[in-house]
Amino acid sequence: MPAITASAPGKIILFGEHAVVYGRPAIAVPVNQVAARAIAIAEPRQPSGTVIIQAPDISLESSLSDLPPDHPLAIAVISVLERLEITRPPAFTLRISSTIPVAAGLGSGAAVSVAIIRVVSAFLGRPLPNEQVSELAYEVEKRYHGTPSGIDNTVITYNMPVYFVRGQPVAIFHVARPFTIVIGDTGIKSPTATAVGDLRKFWQADPIPYERLFDQTGQIAEAARRLIESGRTAELAPLMQDNHRLLQEMGVSSPELDHLVQTAQASGALGAKLSGGGRGGNMIALVDPQQAESVAEALKLAGARSTIITKVGGI
Ligand code: MEV
Repeated sequence: MPAITASAPGKIILFGEHAVVYGRPAIAVPVNQVAARAIAIAEPRQPSGTVIIQAPDISLESSLSDLPPDHPLAIAVISVLERLEITRPPAFTLRISSTIPVAAGLGSGAAVSVAIIRVVSAFLGRPLPNEQVSELAYEVEKRYHGTPSGIDNTVITYNMPVYFVRGQPVAIFHVARPFTIVIGDTGIKSPTATAVGDLRKFWQADPIPYERLFDQTGQIAEAARRLIESGRTAELAPLMQDNHRLLQEMGVSSPELDHLVQTAQASGALGAKLSGGGRGGNMIALVDPQQAESVAEALKLAGARSTIITKVGGI
């Protein structure tokens, strides 16, 4: 049997991170310049039930049975076996790699889960539809990340811009006019679960001001959807500034993120904000396409570890 491959993109949140955990809408788009990839290779000479997992990026080579059952790679594989009610799969090696930076707000965990779920179900001859791929990836996120909203697994599974409200069916929306985003990585690793957990503690201690911040963020995401659907993308810029300010007030920005956001603005970006869990990881800047390279260059000079220029909408 030939090897089977599946991949899944990274993602950025354009508007509404964190508030989305509390039921407000958010907008996310895939980033196809980076991806997680999973390959399943049959091992006909090994006894059935043998699953060997290789993840050279993290120097991991182990049989599934030797991995702790709460290891995220193990959870993803086991979730598929359980869903398909297969106890002894034909032996195979699962090789996982990813170019998505880890703990950087680009959805690397969800992308790895989606790629694994797709490849394992395809290898077993029963490829799962998107709805179930996303659902299983969400289960992995929940086990591993505490209280995720589900936006990462959704945008990454469907590989389309999504307007997301927790617990509601996925809404894929139309980008009337493509626009360009520069992504800048602070290089500071910041697990999303930590930022989400800290914010939850602030909210529990004093919910009213945080509810107000979440409401304002949700209104920004709603307004942004209307602008994107009607092609008025330049008007997104002030919304990005406002969303960044609200994220600062939630306590999830950082001096490095603020510095890159200011640098983007000073070097010609229309608007900028942090993206994802915050405290480190990535920020995004809305730019005119002809300004993209110079904004990316300015971000690197200001300390960005790496930059990605990506187009939202269009082909
Ligand atoms: C992470 O990409 C976005 C957050 O809102 C967390 C979540 O929605 O699960 C910070």
